[in-house]
Amino acid sequence: MSDPHPNSRLPGFYRLPLEERQAELARQVGLSSEDLALFASGGITATGADRMIENAIGIYALPLGLGLNFVVNGVDRLIPMAVEEPSVIAAASNAARMVREGGGFAADADESIMTTQVELREVADPVAASAAITTARAEILASADQALPRLRERGGGCRDLEVRTLPDQRLVVHIYVDCREAMGANMVNTVAEAVAGRLAELASARTGLRILSNLSDRRLVRVSGRVPFSALSADKSAERGAALAREIEAASRFSEDDIYRAATHNKGIMNGVDPVVIATGNDWRGIEAGAHAYAARDGRYRPLATWRVEGAFLVGRLAMPMAVGTVGGTLQVHPGARLALRILGASSARELAEVIGSVGLAQNLAALKALAGEGIQRGHMALHRLAVSER
Ligand code: MEV
Repeated sequence: MSDPHPNSRLPGFYRLPLEERQAELARQVGLSSEDLALFASGGITATGADRMIENAIGIYALPLGLGLNFVVNGVDRLIPMAVEEPSVIAAASNAARMVREGGGFAADADESIMTTQVELREVADPVAASAAITTARAEILASADQALPRLRERGGGCRDLEVRTLPDQRLVVHIYVDCREAMGANMVNTVAEAVAGRLAELASARTGLRILSNLSDRRLVRVSGRVPFSALSADKSAERGAALAREIEAASRFSEDDIYRAATHNKGIMNGVDPVVIATGNDWRGIEAGAHAYAARDGRYRPLATWRVEGAFLVGRLAMPMAVGTVGGTLQVHPGARLALRILGASSARELAEVIGSVGLAQNLAALKALAGEGIQRGHMALHRLAVSER
């Protein structure tokens, strides 16, 4: 029988032969041998691939591994990660174990609010046009909702609009749509196209582009995690752990002050985020675009996560857009993605976002700990070679 809450703390998992790891996973989350067989082929068949894209000639597979030790909002999670880079999964699992000692990750995701844009060009009087659109807010949102009747039935819908001014007699209207369990790209593109004509009429303007924005800044995930000093040091020494915590804070401050370092710091976060986004059939290009635009939202590119020493803990905080869904899109046509989502056990898009953000923060901690300590080549790569016994 499977436990509805699997135990993500599986010491010695890395030492098992692959078949025994699969058997342990099957026990933990209740998988059948047919389920497991899916992953032998990368989760889809060539025929399935042919239904997904044009000019298909086959399947390109990535290794799929399991991130361990994660506790997010008090719940143990096994993390399916599709990734080709050695040491990523070992490092994330190792960092998650340290955060587990501090109580696990605390994560909070916004409602699934997507932003869609309608560009208006040749606006004769932007101030008057903006006022006309704002006055017609209720009418526009109602007709936007009509474009997505099934979303309304599921409790979603168009929540608000906003008018922004651009140079050269242009306006851009944002419509904010709660997409519930879907990532929502198709939905919000439909909305933009449905209301563009009326917006142009109200603004006495010409319609420009009608498309979602991948800067989903109303769909953020915020994660924090704290590590007791003793958990940072291999020999559990609080003193050595405190020294390392101060080095990790210094590494964080480096990324806060230097864009070249911030880029690499954020790459390390995406090392954790992307593999889960990919495994669960979500759009990782969209997540990447949103992450980096958000990092530069105030005109200066910044780290998506920072670390500080607070009392007897090292505390990390991450905030970034996380537009992921648990229905529709790739999930409809990719049985492997559906299975990965089952393994992860997220019952909603928000929960999925909270777990993905936590993996990003764990990955960042692992990288900074290695960099602040023995260096990435010895630290990180040793994790891969030895697959650390504490995992
Ligand atoms: C390597 O894939 C990622 C790191 O460079 C991230 C970092 O420097 O923070 C280790």
